[in-house]
Amino acid sequence: MTPAPISRRRAIVLGGFGAASLAIGATGWFATGAGVRTGGRLQPADTGAELRQPKVLDSADGRLQVELTAAAGVRLAGHDTRALGYNATSPGPTLRVRPGDELAVRLTNQLDEPTNLHTHGLRVSPQANSDNPFLRVDPGASFDYLFRIPPDHPAGTYWYHPHHHGMVAGQIFGGLAGALLVAPPGQDPDLPVLEDRVLLVTDTTLDGDGRLAEIGAMDRAMGRQGELVLVNGQHEPTIPADPGATQRWRVINGCVSRVLSIRLDGHELVHVAQDGTFLPAPIAADRVMLAPGNRADVIVRPTGTGRYPLIAEAVNRGGMDEMMGGGTASSGPVILATMVTAGAPVTAPPLPTALPAETPAVGPVTTRREIAFQMGMGMGGMDFAIDGRIFDPDRDDQNVTLGDTEEWTITNPGPLAHPFHLHVWPFTVVELSDATPPVGVPQDVVLVPARGWVRLRIPFTNYSGRSVYHCHILDHEDAGMMATVNVRA
Ligand code: C2O
Ligand code: CU
Ligand code: CU
Repeated sequence: MTPAPISRRRAIVLGGFGAASLAIGATGWFATGAGVRTGGRLQPADTGAELRQPKVLDSADGRLQVELTAAAGVRLAGHDTRALGYNATSPGPTLRVRPGDELAVRLTNQLDEPTNLHTHGLRVSPQANSDNPFLRVDPGASFDYLFRIPPDHPAGTYWYHPHHHGMVAGQIFGGLAGALLVAPPGQDPDLPVLEDRVLLVTDTTLDGDGRLAEIGAMDRAMGRQGELVLVNGQHEPTIPADPGATQRWRVINGCVSRVLSIRLDGHELVHVAQDGTFLPAPIAADRVMLAPGNRADVIVRPTGTGRYPLIAEAVNRGGMDEMMGGGTASSGPVILATMVTAGAPVTAPPLPTALPAETPAVGPVTTRREIAFQMGMGMGGMDFAIDGRIFDPDRDDQNVTLGDTEEWTITNPGPLAHPFHLHVWPFTVVELSDATPPVGVPQDVVLVPARGWVRLRIPFTNYSGRSVYHCHILDHEDAGMMATVNVRA
């Protein structure tokens, strides 16, 4: 449970606001029932095995039709576990479509609670049976989703996960996530890479019997961080590489609340795309930071021969993290994977100096809004709210006119950074209070610094309808740190 004494929790000075308190210590969904608790943790049995790719389901003739069944019982870290998966795997299959395609998904719920499906980052309609976060698929039921990918959709790295309010953190922590790739419209690859890999990072905590551990109130308050950090469901896999031969790694942060600051020992990471869209030019960096939900595509140019760990370094999310001793359960650094280079050097074609970045369709700003993420002590526990209110799916929090470009300033008066995420309409970060340089291309998650703010430009183009924005620390989203936006023509 929590190592933090109550007095320290109470000592956190946070602004009060009008919302009713939300008790977050409610019964965890992953109660282990009458089973005997061993008290121990599952020890990974596959450390160092070669990185596998999830099964790829590829579109053909403009369509991809798949069935995804959410159920308990998957192989993780070399064990048969009671964690959750799609089609008995975690991550689920990689869905690969092209601009202009139709993606039809029959989602079958074999969990014992409701679920649904969200195509994170995809620019598709939020209405009806498309990327509609208000839908609910009950246990035993199936639902037919249809996502129409627009012909001008950027080619890049996206992902899918459940989004039934109140159960999102538990289900993703349980293992429900998969990659969703939009391939380039033509046949030619965008980059001269010899290997193109998905690295879907998730974290979870499993007991010695392979059951999901119970999550305490403090873990929910800080955002749960699993003790087991996995890449494609594997523990510290090995990534083989030929010296000189470039690889594209599509890193997806599928963790419920863990921020990943990744570094590859002895190598630069060449950042080429963020949240599914290319940067204007490759940026060689020592570290690339991914908030929960973010994707970063990086090019790796292996040099020499040897073993080079890919490390997620410890990240300080603000004063509250420090007070809690670096966050809950385990924080960094953790080894995600190890690149092993061997063999004769290969000569790879040089990287392009310019990338097919999109020019964001940003018109003159018509409306400015200020939106506040709020976390504080309430009467019955911690409160998680936006602008003083917890999530209500029936309330319209922001009314927007289709076609307008708006400027939103997201404020965070509290001592913990929160990742802001908006569905359907990607935004461009204009400025951050901590002077982090913005990536300059449309993105869909940005970390709002503790006691700080971010300013965003959002073109509300292409789709009308209602959707949501929220904190992508999914425990916070489940507790109410989510709100609605209604875009009307
Ligand atoms: Cu990845 Cu609304 O979420
Ligand atoms: Cu999303
Ligand atoms: Cu949050």
